[in-house]
Amino acid sequence: MTLSFSMTQASPETAATPCAVVGVFTDGRLTSAAERIDAATSGAIQRLIGNGDVNGKLGSSWLLHTLTGIAAERVLLVGLGEQAKFDAAAFNRALDEAGRALSNLPVVSAICWLTEIEVVGRDASWLTRTAALAIDHQAYRYTATFKPKEKSAKAELASIAFVGEGADQALQQATAIARGVRPAREVGNLPPNICNPAYIATQARALAAEHAGVECEVLEREDMEKLGMGSLLGVARGSANAPKLIVLRWNGGGNAKPYALVGKGITFDSGGLSLKPGAGMEEMKFDMCGAAGMLGTFLAAVELALPLNLVCIAAAVENMPDGNAYRPSDVLTSMSGQTIEVLNTDAEGRLILCDALTYAQKFEPQVIIDAATLTGACVVALGKYASGLMSEDEDLAAQLLDAGSRTLDRAWRLPLWADYQSSLDSAFADVANLGGKYAGAITAACFLSRFTSGYRWAHLDIAGSAWNEGRKGLATGRPVPLLTQYLIDRCA
Ligand code: BES
Ligand code: MN
Ligand code: ZN
Repeated sequence: MTLSFSMTQASPETAATPCAVVGVFTDGRLTSAAERIDAATSGAIQRLIGNGDVNGKLGSSWLLHTLTGIAAERVLLVGLGEQAKFDAAAFNRALDEAGRALSNLPVVSAICWLTEIEVVGRDASWLTRTAALAIDHQAYRYTATFKPKEKSAKAELASIAFVGEGADQALQQATAIARGVRPAREVGNLPPNICNPAYIATQARALAAEHAGVECEVLEREDMEKLGMGSLLGVARGSANAPKLIVLRWNGGGNAKPYALVGKGITFDSGGLSLKPGAGMEEMKFDMCGAAGMLGTFLAAVELALPLNLVCIAAAVENMPDGNAYRPSDVLTSMSGQTIEVLNTDAEGRLILCDALTYAQKFEPQVIIDAATLTGACVVALGKYASGLMSEDEDLAAQLLDAGSRTLDRAWRLPLWADYQSSLDSAFADVANLGGKYAGAITAACFLSRFTSGYRWAHLDIAGSAWNEGRKGLATGRPVPLLTQYLIDRCA
């Protein structure tokens, strides 16, 4: 369940809330709500700053109990850093910290005054929506595969009110995006012995059953054989878990051509016969985050009842070594008719995506966007903060970059020049599934481009952004915010 959000006009001294959230900068300057609480409590906050207990550092927060003179049970003072450097990223960081602290407190609700702060170039709607999403992100807990705990008595954060006016639409959008991000994170986090292709298909069917106007169709192996999807089916051959091509449709836009969202859903990427090294292989349960992100984006768009048409295609396949597995040097025939020489069975994402991209064209889309944890090279190039964006369509690329910067779910463009294409030359097939030593993220996108010619198409490589690194790293739900924003913008 996502948090429930609302707007309020409450005053900081008199609001009877379990927790009032206000801010302090490093020079000791208080936000106006913090100042009013300070005045009502005879300078309790300024005393703590004077003593050095509170320093306003960005990323820190201080919980103040038992203040007399105000109605709130607690005050959460959130560090905002240097006022001169306070920008959108700092605001987001401060709200992350507020959300982290709130989620660990025994409170069911809180009122947040941080949306009253000025951030250059961002309006109240942006502040409210960003705040809501940051706090919801921190409130998410992964519990699915722990031994069930006795129901704890601790109250859990369920709702949060933001101070301000006229941001109701922003909260509606935040709610929809959060409802898309949550399941994207959850299926990303689930282990591959639970979250296999059939599981993702079941989730997609449930989504359709719960939302009027959504249609779901799941193509089985035999259906894909009839369509000639030899590339996707080649990857699937090594796994005991049958592949599923999941298709969801939403028709909110009359006769308009649809936007097609295509996601890589490798539920586990062992590398196949080109087996990955053991260290870090467990992270490859996240290799379905492209599919999860597209399903989450689709859900957010449906929750907003966006007046456009959408087709969401999740290619759900497991990549395993086996006596029946596909091999390096195999030549596969894709649905497009192009033949593919397999040089490495670990470059499997592009092999399932190419058939999914060809299938998407059946719906005569006006735009095709794919999201995939496609290459380690993208992580080397951009790290964890930016998704890689590749497109030959200038307008589409600009719109996606813009949607990313406004949601702070940012992408960075890499070139997709024709120069890179020759690295995919093969002596035995129309194209090889492996490029040369360099520019691995780009050559992977070049491969996909061979299956989208004539269409407005963009590719998001989310290999770095889809989950946080380390043993306790969780799925992030990216690029749901970016893509939902892109779709919202198309309706303006
Ligand atoms: N799913 C991986 C890409 C990946 C690796 C994502 C590490 C996140 C972290 C993909 O299927 C893969 O294995 N790519 C290979 C391609 C290579 C064989 C051309 C890679 O990046 O090493
Ligand atoms: Mn791989
Ligand atoms: Zn992969």
